[in-house]
Amino acid sequence: MGQLQDQFYSILKSRHPSMLRGVEEARLIAPELVDCHFEECLVWLVAAFGEGVLTKIADGYAFFTLEVNRAQQAYEIAGKYQVSSFAEANQLVYQQSDYMKNYYWGVFAILFCWSHYVELMQFYLERFVKNLSSGRLIEIAPGHGAWGILAIIKNQMTLEGWDISPASLEMAPMMAVGANVDSRCIYRTADATQVDHGYGQFDAAVCCFMLEHLEKPGEFLANFAPSLKSGATAFVSLALTAAQTDHIYEFKHESEGIVLAEQAGFELLECRITRPKRLMPNARFVPRVQAMILKKK
Ligand SMILES: C[S@@+](CC[C@H](N)C(=O)[O-])C[C@H]1O[C@@H](n2cnc3c(N)ncnc32)[C@H](O)[C@@H]1O
Repeated sequence: MGQLQDQFYSILKSRHPSMLRGVEEARLIAPELVDCHFEECLVWLVAAFGEGVLTKIADGYAFFTLEVNRAQQAYEIAGKYQVSSFAEANQLVYQQSDYMKNYYWGVFAILFCWSHYVELMQFYLERFVKNLSSGRLIEIAPGHGAWGILAIIKNQMTLEGWDISPASLEMAPMMAVGANVDSRCIYRTADATQVDHGYGQFDAAVCCFMLEHLEKPGEFLANFAPSLKSGATAFVSLALTAAQTDHIYEFKHESEGIVLAEQAGFELLECRITRPKRLMPNARFVPRVQAMILKKK
């Protein structure tokens, strides 16, 4: 296990002891992957933000996990997500800089601390990142920035990131500096639903956990598809029946994302769906995550 990773677990144990069991279970899904890549990301973050960042990540992880559990409980009762318009989510979440920083530390940490996300990360690294080589990668909604940076650090690629939240622009470029790939990265504040085709076509794309944040994810995919070269691959992930304050579009069935992608001009190459090891007692909704590897036709 890496030194910073070990330190992170110790901080979590002392500040949020109830969170440790799930995090240890998640590591056991793929210990080599977590020990290598969680540590690698923590090295970048400590280089960029200093050692105090480990405490911020631990607190952000606890904040985000409790927030998601609260939202899922409310969803179980109401039978629908809390907000239904992008305007509400934008106001409540994306434009709130302090909230977003805590949120992003949490969203970053779950990649290696929630078991079903570790499974998805394994799929990402082994089936998508390993098959990239060179060219321009576009990341839609990078948030903290880890997905895209993990892809280009292993390939001779440049990275362009577009996110609507100003807080993302304070974090992702810093992570790129910590990883020493900032000369290959450009980040912009942009609303992905208003795709700007003025930046040319890209060789590959990553879009993780944004579709459920949109009112019309199919419209986004269709508008975005022309930004990719024919034959380009895209890694697109989404959450199904999984509540969060800023989740708007309720994906219920695994086929939905696939149909939207096909209608937008993509071919499905591979798909992986994972679910948490433990559910709320008597849950009627199972919060799954789905990742698709798509090829632009
Ligand atoms: C759950 S976070 C995902 C962050 C990161 N991709 C990940 O998977 O860890 C959702 C991200 O979508 C961004 N987002 C939501 N709506 C957007 C839009 N219309 N255009 C661009 N970014 C958007 C948010 O600002 C946030 O960074």
